[in-house]
Amino acid sequence: MGSAQGQSNRVVSLRQAAGTRFQIGVGLNHAGLNEADQQLIQKQFSVLTPENCMKPQATQPQEGQFRFAEADQFVAFARANGQQIVGHCLVWAKDDRTPEWMTREGDGLVSAETLLKRMEAHIEAVVSRYADAVSEWDVVNEAIADSGDQVLRDSAFSRTCGEHFILRAFQVAKKCDPTATFIYNDYNTHSPDKRGRMVKLLKSLKAQGTPVDVLGMQGHFELGDNSVKELRDTFEVLRRMNVKVVVSELDIDVIPRGRWWADNGKHREELSQLNPYRDGCPQYILEQQASQYKALFQLFVDYDDIITRVSFWNLHDGASWLNDFPWKRSNYPLLFDRDRQPKPSFAAVMKVLRPAQTEKD
Ligand code: XIL
Repeated sequence: MGSAQGQSNRVVSLRQAAGTRFQIGVGLNHAGLNEADQQLIQKQFSVLTPENCMKPQATQPQEGQFRFAEADQFVAFARANGQQIVGHCLVWAKDDRTPEWMTREGDGLVSAETLLKRMEAHIEAVVSRYADAVSEWDVVNEAIADSGDQVLRDSAFSRTCGEHFILRAFQVAKKCDPTATFIYNDYNTHSPDKRGRMVKLLKSLKAQGTPVDVLGMQGHFELGDNSVKELRDTFEVLRRMNVKVVVSELDIDVIPRGRWWADNGKHREELSQLNPYRDGCPQYILEQQASQYKALFQLFVDYDDIITRVSFWNLHDGASWLNDFPWKRSNYPLLFDRDRQPKPSFAAVMKVLRPAQTEKD
């Protein structure tokens, strides 16, 4: 323990190493954090995103019944550490992530008018409460379709309001907190197929004068995927469009999960038994992951003129959501292991970031 601790004290932190290029953040559940977690959070990260407690299902499970206790505690925790907060998220435009009361009226689907009224009341309540604490908001999350001709996924929001709900969500958020940064956040927007829809949406929102400041690219990658190349192509497009970017939820799954969604879910039963690294992750996998993280951070550094923040999704491997999603398995997606010790991926990222610090110092 003594020597492990000594070792982790010697390494420069991610946030210091990134310097002024971009901020380094982390998404987490503040409840139940032990001393080691708290030290790690304080040392490595400058921005915190609440993993779940500010989401609509958590803050307003029933109409007009707000639950802010957990989010209040999260805010107090971040403030005590002097860290900034990303409010996540005001609208999650997916039916299974939206409280049911918001999308139903009588026996059927809510009307556009009622949905907008409910959505705006929700945003007003949450943004006004945390205006002094939160510096960036993920205003709308995951509205873009995964495939097909439509820009937006099918949801109560898109079915009743088309794109209009996105404009309204940003307008209301901005009205309640004019100085914050407002983010449109989504996954896989680097993939060639989804990229086109993302560009269409951003152009359309801009044309309508939507106060969207930044594109949030979640960054839930998989070992051996094509994300570095696809991201480079996407960053090129975004740079030309003069769009700022945050990598909002970075991790690299070492047990690729793409097949879970393939072929109408026919591999799910088989995959749900797959847990190859339950007794530990082989060194060669950790090394592969380190190379992928290295390539990603080299890319982020190349595009640091448009990237303003890189946030990891969860603190260490044991706390990752990918131990449960989309099926239960022992996963190793982050830079710190279950003992909160730096992994090869940490060293690889630091190698990329350190020269940046020297250059800018
Ligand atoms: C995830 C959380 O990490 C889990 O604990 C929860 O059960 C489901 O949501 N994209 C997002 C995040 O925007 O809010 C999701 O977080 C991960 C995918």
